Amino acid sequence: MNLSVGRGGLGSSTIIIIVIAAVAIIFGGYVISSFTPALLPVQASGEAEQVDALFRVLMFLGGIVFLLVQGLLVVTIIRYRRKPGDEGDGAHFSGNPTLEIVWTAIPAAIVFLAIYSYSVYVNIREPKPDELHVDVLGARFAWTFTYEDPLGRLPEDGPQTFNDSVLHTYVGRPVVLSMRTNDVNHAFWVPTMRIKQDLLAGRTTSVRFTPTQAGRYRIVCTELCGGGHGAMFSYIQVYATEQEWMERFIDIRVDRILNPPTDPVEVGRAVLAEGKYPCAGCHKLDDLGWAGITGPNLNGIADTAARRASTAGQASPEAYLANSIRHPNDYIAPGFQRNVMPLFGPTQDEPAEVDGAYYVYMPDADLVGIVSYLCTQTATGTPTCGDTEMIEAAVAAQSE
Ligand code: CUA
Repeated sequence: MNLSVGRGGLGSSTIIIIVIAAVAIIFGGYVISSFTPALLPVQASGEAEQVDALFRVLMFLGGIVFLLVQGLLVVTIIRYRRKPGDEGDGAHFSGNPTLEIVWTAIPAAIVFLAIYSYSVYVNIREPKPDELHVDVLGARFAWTFTYEDPLGRLPEDGPQTFNDSVLHTYVGRPVVLSMRTNDVNHAFWVPTMRIKQDLLAGRTTSVRFTPTQAGRYRIVCTELCGGGHGAMFSYIQVYATEQEWMERFIDIRVDRILNPPTDPVEVGRAVLAEGKYPCAGCHKLDDLGWAGITGPNLNGIADTAARRASTAGQASPEAYLANSIRHPNDYIAPGFQRNVMPLFGPTQDEPAEVDGAYYVYMPDADLVGIVSYLCTQTATGTPTCGDTEMIEAAVAAQSE
């Protein structure tokens, strides 16, 4: 059998072998590409389908190149290895225009992938009709999502939006996220939706997707943003229908704003559990399922407050708790850093930054609730603080 590509030309049996090998390699590329779904998480958005289709083409072509190169390597090693007693050099030949044209033309044709992937990129970023608009705030080390009531039921004299630490959406509705960061750069990544977008300090970035499968999917921060980076994750809750989304999320939250609970402990627990403020990413608190490690552990925080109040220059545990939230840099718990916790101020129109701490607006009513709730976090279960009136006075004093 003559495999030389020199002047002699190819024998018919060589051509048959090359054709069989080519078919086998192309089929092998197809087999490799069909394993794509096994490599990737569930496809939960329309964008995921487009991205995976592109990925499959890449795997198909990459598989062909892999099999061709490895196959030639194996054939060469076996067929052209040095025979016993052969001490001579290999035959020399130079110039083979056919071969050169082929190895230039094939990569040139593969450049079409750039056009294909660009068209997927453009398609994914294109505004869709009737998008659900959600604001996203990344802050070390939590995600906060801001919603409006689609039925406009919120009272005119109050905020027209509400926050949650989970992104609530439903199947079939295109979503556009407007993303800002409160501090350093973060990156918003949802593997199941195949979307990923950086949050850049001083800029608003956006990302779009249309959920296609109900479920709960993980959101991950993929930009190293500090000590709590690994804990900076949340979830997308995709409901099956718009009605379910309204009933199980929007209606409950709007109702809570329209008919606030009268018990301040209940108010505080609800505010914290919903993730209105980005506390969960940094603090540990078993009652709410928080597992953060960058800030002090809040299990039994009321006992700690009672113990530390005087060291921190505060008259009472309730004053200590209110002070720690309104002025987090006044007293830093042993072992923790300054300027990591945002400063939760009482007025809406404050600069973004106060003395190196990031400013987040927290009305007195929320702080009274939060302090009341934290006062119940004791080892014995008996609150260490005074009554609501004393908590209100402590909060008022810190808000001046
Ligand atoms: Cu935010 Cu990493």
